[in-house]
Amino acid sequence: MNAPPPAGSTLRPVRIAGTGAYAPAHVLTNRDLEKIVTTTDQWIVERTGMRERRIAAENEAASDLGAEAARRALADAGMAATDVQLLLAATITPDYPFPNTGCIIQSKIGARHAFCMGLEAACSGFVYAVETARHFIATGTVENALVVGTEKMSSILDWTDRTTCVLFGDGAGAAVLRPAKRGRGVVASALGSDGSLSDLLLIPAGGSRRPTSEATVAAREHYLRMNGREVFKHAVTHMVRSARTALHRAGVVISDVRWIIPHQANMRIIRAVAERLGVPLERFVINVERYGNTSGASVAIALDEAARDGRIRDGDLVLMLVFGGGFTWGAMLLEWEKGS
Ligand SMILES: CC(C)(COP(=O)(O)OP(=O)(O)OC[C@H]1O[C@@H](n2cnc3c(N)ncnc32)[C@H](O)[C@@H]1OP(=O)(O)O)[C@@H](O)C(=O)NCCC(=O)NCCS
Repeated sequence: MNAPPPAGSTLRPVRIAGTGAYAPAHVLTNRDLEKIVTTTDQWIVERTGMRERRIAAENEAASDLGAEAARRALADAGMAATDVQLLLAATITPDYPFPNTGCIIQSKIGARHAFCMGLEAACSGFVYAVETARHFIATGTVENALVVGTEKMSSILDWTDRTTCVLFGDGAGAAVLRPAKRGRGVVASALGSDGSLSDLLLIPAGGSRRPTSEATVAAREHYLRMNGREVFKHAVTHMVRSARTALHRAGVVISDVRWIIPHQANMRIIRAVAERLGVPLERFVINVERYGNTSGASVAIALDEAARDGRIRDGDLVLMLVFGGGFTWGAMLLEWEKGS
């Protein structure tokens, strides 16, 4: 499924034709966190590289953040919301258990001709969603897709648990996908999952296994729980492995890649991935110090920043690397081709 299409294939190459991002205005610094839990700016910086993160307002939900990122991506692609044919929203902090957040974003931006769905792959969500949407375009089912990664992580954090609440932030990123014109667009991808490790990173209650009850609320089971050390190890291993698989499928080597955009979970994870791949950190797009881990939005926000400030140029090979709850992970290699 992820290999380049065989000769004679009718699959069309698909590119990212526009990007957008939105981060809520309120900045929560490490110093602010010192007033909420027993922690220090020094511990957070040394262990994670994070200095601040954005926190959404009480009346801002994931769809509000996602709608703004979507509007910016559409403007960047020069496309009207009414032209969107597929709207796919990746999130683990949906406005509601159902309907899906794609539908809520649709109504906010006026994408009334799109069919809409949600996708849940935790921090891998954006890459999983781009990979899913691109097949609808590649097969000719639709002519374009709007992919949104959006999270209000602050709504699922236990603000009494210092081992998790300092790590995450809120934000959204979006991309418009269209058939490639000149280049190869998405060159290769390599996605993977291991559901046997799902209990290392999850929200224990609120689903059909443990529906909401007074007991689940009292036990704080509606908040994110994580075994940080285990997650760390698996994240490094799988981001490196999937990068190698995607490069192999594309028939290129790591030195051909201009920019690596890793999931922004922890500076130490990024450094370990860089070392193992033998790539200097200067070729990584990094913003973890300003946003923390925004889960399904993280790579989308970083991609938008690097595309807008001119780091990524037409023809560049860009490698996105993700890892998240599930576990889920993946790599996607793109040949950058903007323009309308
Ligand atoms: C969470 C993480 C930063 C913790 O770093 P670590 O170096 O593994 O730290 P440890 O968990 O070993 O904890 C070390 C000590 O710091 C303490 N500590 C944990 N959080 C702290 C905080 N915010 N402030 C101060 N001390 C803290 C721990 O209680 C522990 O104390 P102890 O030794 O007295 O028991 C790290 O494991 C990590 O980043 N994991 C991956 C998380 C992630 O990215 N998840 C999302 C992936 S999609």
